[in-house]
Amino acid sequence: MTKKAGPIAARHVIWSGRKLAIVVCIALSLVAIFRFQLQYDLSYAAPVYRPRFRVSHDIFNGRPKIAFLFLTRRDLPLDFLWGSFFENADVANFSIYVHSSPGFVLDESTSRSKFFYDRQLSNSIQVVWGESSMIAAERLLLEAALEDPANRRFVLLSDSCVPLHNFSYIYNYLMASPRSFVDSFVDGKEHRYNPKMSPIIPKDKWRKGSQWISLIRRHAEVIVDDEIIFSVFKTLCKRRPPLDTSKGKLNLKQQKQHNCIPDEHYVQTLFAMSGIEHELERRTLTYTQWNLSATKMEKKGWHPMTFGYANAGPQQIKEIKSINHIYYETEFRTEWCRTDLTSVPCFLFARKFSRGASMRLLSEGVVGPFDATAVLGTPP
Ligand SMILES: *[C@@H]1O[C@H](CO)[C@@H](O)[C@H](O)[C@H]1NC(C)=O
Ligand SMILES: *[C@@H]1O[C@H](CO)[C@@H](O)[C@H](O)[C@H]1NC(C)=O
Ligand SMILES: *[C@@H]1O[C@H](CO)[C@@H](O)[C@H](O)[C@H]1NC(C)=O
Repeated sequence: MTKKAGPIAARHVIWSGRKLAIVVCIALSLVAIFRFQLQYDLSYAAPVYRPRFRVSHDIFNGRPKIAFLFLTRRDLPLDFLWGSFFENADVANFSIYVHSSPGFVLDESTSRSKFFYDRQLSNSIQVVWGESSMIAAERLLLEAALEDPANRRFVLLSDSCVPLHNFSYIYNYLMASPRSFVDSFVDGKEHRYNPKMSPIIPKDKWRKGSQWISLIRRHAEVIVDDEIIFSVFKTLCKRRPPLDTSKGKLNLKQQKQHNCIPDEHYVQTLFAMSGIEHELERRTLTYTQWNLSATKMEKKGWHPMTFGYANAGPQQIKEIKSINHIYYETEFRTEWCRTDLTSVPCFLFARKFSRGASMRLLSEGVVGPFDATAVLGTPP
């Protein structure tokens, strides 16, 4: 028995040794996995933004196009003017994308210009003005336009935007510049930065600027590929709700929130974070006239003026077209308008134009030779 028991006991010892080793191994791997998980969770809680530039395979040899990206509520009220504008273009030089309300279709019953037929995105979303759905819509437009490798410039426009020049002028202006046009500045006086955005978005990278941008392809990709900064904006950059007296104390809490308008900060801040500010012309190509008649107290309430027939005359348009520099008050910076190194007029587009004002631009021949049939329909 004892003799027999000897080897069995020895085997048993060896066996338990192996078992122990296995258990220790498993335990160690579990610890490792757990620690990995922990690190992963920590890094997940605070993802660090590192711009990921796509590897550019596209050395494009074809004819470069401008992608016109329209962000609209429904139809395009100024389609007759744009129709005339595109009539004077070469169809191989541009493409059109429209983000409208979901389900809205551009066809002969909803548009006066064939250039817009079926140009609506099929995956459009409901946009609430001043909320992050607005930048989500911009991203959808860019994403759709990036699918065509011929699109080399991306111009974002609203449904009240007009061109101030003919197509070939705008085409040459944009193609001559290897840069994007993005109005972007530091405004020390505003309080829209939310400290909770740190450390993902440090305060010194916070920027402000006009939503109406014009991009080169690489910069359009930076926007479409970003998830991190966009999600910070979604949760922490929100418009303050209007005062609602029925809400009492809840009001106070809501009013303490930072009043933040995503479309005036997102692209600018993302580009500052991506280290590409030096690749920009830091100005917008879209002219806005501000109503300065408000008193000093109301200064924050400055709002863009709408151009009507009366203030869209040749003299006014000429004045806008002759602007050649912009002064940035908060930075004491004067931006002399250039494409590459050539001095040029600052603005290619203007916004807040009524139908009447647009009709006037058309009849003054701003976008090309005036052709009454384009507006009044083909005579019988
Ligand atoms: C476009 O405008 C430019 C500058 O105003 C002018 O020189 C040119 O002839 C125009 N081109 C067409 C095709 O109308
Ligand atoms: C269209 O693109 C070609 C090539 O880039 C250019 O030479 C031509 O002037 C453009 N046409 C118009 C109307 O802009
Ligand atoms: C400018 O603002 C003032 C005061 O807010 C308003 O009364 C006036 O109608 C505005 N003018 C234009 C042209 O929008």
